[in-house]
This record gives sequence, structure tokens and C-alpha cells, in this order.
Amino acid sequence: MVLVHRVATAPDKLLVFTCGLGSVATTFIAGVEAVRRGIGLPIGSITQMHSICSIEGGIGQGEPSIAESLGLCPLNSIEFAAWDIFSQNALQAAQHANVLCRDHMDKLSDFLSTIKPMQAAFLPEYVSKLAGNHTKPFQNRYELAEALRRDIRERMAEASTDQAVLILCGSTEIHLKQCACHRSPDAFLEGMKSDDPGISPSQLYAWAAIMEGVPIANATPNLMGEVAALCQLAHNRGVPIAGKDLKTGQTFIKTALAPAFQARSLGVSGWFSTNILGNRDGLALDDERSFKAKEATKTEVLNGILDPKTHPDLYSNITHKVRINYYPPRGDAKEGWDNIDLFGWLGYPMQMKINFLCRDSILAAPLILDLALLLPFAKRQGDRGIQPWLSFFFKSPHSLPEASPIHDLFAQKVMLAHQLKTYAANSARTVSQWT
Ligand SMILES: NC(=O)c1ccc[n+]([C@@H]2O[C@H](COP(=O)([O-])OP(=O)(O)OC[C@H]3O[C@@H](n4cnc5c(N)ncnc54)[C@H](O)[C@@H]3O)[C@@H](O)[C@H]2O)c1
Repeated sequence: MVLVHRVATAPDKLLVFTCGLGSVATTFIAGVEAVRRGIGLPIGSITQMHSICSIEGGIGQGEPSIAESLGLCPLNSIEFAAWDIFSQNALQAAQHANVLCRDHMDKLSDFLSTIKPMQAAFLPEYVSKLAGNHTKPFQNRYELAEALRRDIRERMAEASTDQAVLILCGSTEIHLKQCACHRSPDAFLEGMKSDDPGISPSQLYAWAAIMEGVPIANATPNLMGEVAALCQLAHNRGVPIAGKDLKTGQTFIKTALAPAFQARSLGVSGWFSTNILGNRDGLALDDERSFKAKEATKTEVLNGILDPKTHPDLYSNITHKVRINYYPPRGDAKEGWDNIDLFGWLGYPMQMKINFLCRDSILAAPLILDLALLLPFAKRQGDRGIQPWLSFFFKSPHSLPEASPIHDLFAQKVMLAHQLKTYAANSARTVSQWT
């Protein structure tokens, strides 16, 4: 006897907003359209490629995908809207990003050229390396945020849908610390009205989305979900949020490998990670203040996996360094090198070198798709505020105030699988049948 997860009812339409129409956003949008036209597979997307059974480690052959089991929005029913500081449409932006091959661009150009970004809420002091002029005029941050709310309402009305999600995939902003305006929703509102510099454009998008009941995934390292004001607001308004900074290349491998060392009681004395990349994000990260935001999310991932408190002999003295170098010839084809100094029996030292020639946005796009489908679903299930079960997708996962973030990829997968199974049991009609 096997359990078959029946298809649950899917919503008619989902509007996906992206803040930023750069490499990640255009690769995601083009990829969804390519799958819809049957010219590619959604490789890397767990909702499309896994079943509930297989995400838990079973075989799951012949079982419906997670998307089908849960009744996630079908890809054919997704529409897109975006903001960017450049007025290029999605085709021009994708050409600039130079991630997809000529053949794909030619086949998708009619569709991509129809997606034109709305004017961005932009404050140049947060991303000093970019100068775009497709931006909203404003008196203060509150006006900007209200203009974003109007955009969201208008686009949802045009699309005739009440189902939407916002993916923050704009440029990496300068590293910000939390301050008084972040303490409560009221303080945040006051902060926007008095133009508090603690409030960045990313936070304005987040506030606007939450006020409109739209779930948010923060694909960037920018300050968002750790801000108490936004978390409380999301909770109060019944909006699920998740972040931050997609776990794609080097960090994905790091959080898979570190648990292996830990499982074998091998010691680690150093982990040096360096990268070259030449896309627009690399340019933004070339500002040391923006790099600091990325450095923070990339370095904290070993915490909790290689725990010096439980294993002082193995992990109390780790030198962990991360560098990102802007190198234009490489474009989006990022190359990462890791040197790991580890030690074994009687403390004998060893080294491991990893050279990952990845494609950043090709790794990021399927994660965006999964988040874009799962967050509105979570909202329909009545979930609100921070969603720690989505940690699997992030370098610096948001956790609940009383808990520590989980970085171990396999522990994250267990949390994800457990939640999906619970949803499947609650929302899909599960029937037993003899085969
Ligand atoms: N590429 C990846 O695989 C990857 C992985 C993890 C995280 N990220 C993060 O995702 C974000 C996007 O990455 P990307 O490679 O697409 O970068 P990108 O530079 O190609 O795209 C970002 C876009 O955001 C726009 N932008 C900047 N400020 C904006 C604002 N206030 N409002 C609207 N648009 C704005 C820029 O003009 C640009 O077109 C970055 O923060 C990056 O660190 C990317």
C-alpha cells in the first residue's frame, strides 16, 4: 500500500513582484517562461523536481511533485512585475546580465520585452556604485513607501488577483545596523516620516508589501527581517516573510561540507574563501560598505555547525575569512576557491581545496521560484511573520527571537521536509490505495 498525495486546489493567478530587474530576476523570469514553453526543465527547484516523499529521503517514483501535492500556483498562472532604477525592459536587462545564451534569448525575447520595470524607490547613498534615473520623485521615505503601495495595489488590480509575493533582489546596500526606528511599527512609521537614515530602500519595499498583505522573500543581504518593526508588522498583518541572502554557490557547499567534518569529529583550524565575479552585483559589492553586508551573511554560516562550545578541541580556534573580488571579465560566471585547513587523528593537519566554477544566477533562479510559490501558500495556510522552515534557501536564515538560526544544510532540509509534509497532510486530500 502506498500513500498518494492528491492534487490540492491551486490559485488562479500569482503576481510575482521583484525589487530589481537584474541578473537574478531576469534569469528567474526567463526560466519560468522557458519551462512554460517546454524549452527547459526547472532544474534546482525542489517544488517542481521533488515529491513530498523524495524530499524526505524516500524514492517517490511516480508521485506528484510538491507543487502538485500542495496545490501551489502552476507556472502557467504566474505573472511578473518589477521595479528597477534602470528603465530597460526584461529583455534588455537580461542581455546586460548576459547569463542566458543567445538561443534562449531569441526564443524568449517576445515575452521578456513586455516586462517593463516600474520606477524604483531609490536612495543613492545605499548603493553608491550605481547611478540609475528610473526612480520615483519624493519628499521623504514615507512618500516613497506609499508610492510603492500604490504600485502594488494597481498591479494586483490589473492582474485581477489577490495572490502576490515580493522578492527583494535589488543591489546589495551598505551594511546597516539596527537603530531606534526599527524597534516597533510605530517607530518605523515615524522614522519614514522624519527620513531616518536607518531606513533603507529595501526596508521601504518590505514595509509596503507587508501593508498590502504581500509575503516577502529577501534574496539580498540587506537589513529586513531582523528588524523588529517589520517582523511585528508582518505578524500583525498575517504576512509570512523569509530571508536573507540566497544560499547559492560557495555558502551552499560550505554548509554541506561543514556538517560532514562535524559528523566525523574532524577539526577545522581555518577556512579561507575567495571569489571573483563581474556582474552588476559584483560592482555594487566593490564598495567596501556593501561588501560588509555580504561578508556578515557569508561568515556567520559556520556558527552552530562547527560549535566550539560542544567541541572545544575541534572548533575553538577557526580562522574564517571571506573575500569577494569584482572582476568584470567573468560576468555572472562566478568562480569561488576555498582552502580548508582541517586536522585529524592526534591533530595531524590536512588541507582541502575546492574550486567551484558556478553560474550565480542559474543557481539562484530556482530558489526564487520555490520561495515565490511557497510563501503565498504559507499565507493561505494562515502562517505569519518569520518562517524558519525556509532557512534551507538562505545564507543567513531568519529565526524566531527565542531560537538560533540553523545553518546546516541537512538540518534545514529536515525542517523544510517536515513543514511540507505537515502542509500536505493538512491541505491536500491524502488517500490510501492499493497498487
Ligand atoms: N546572483 C546570485 O546568485 C545571488 C546569490 C545570492 C544573493 N544574491 C543577491 O541578490 C541581489 C541581486 O543580485 P543580482 O545578481 O541580480 O544583482 P544585479 O545587480 O544584476 O541586479 C540588481 C538590480 O537591482 C537594481 N536596484 C538597485 N537598487 C534598487 C532599488 N532600490 N529598487 C529597485 N531596483 C534596484 C539594480 O539596478 C539592478 O538592476 C544582490 O543583493 C545579491 O547579493 C544574488
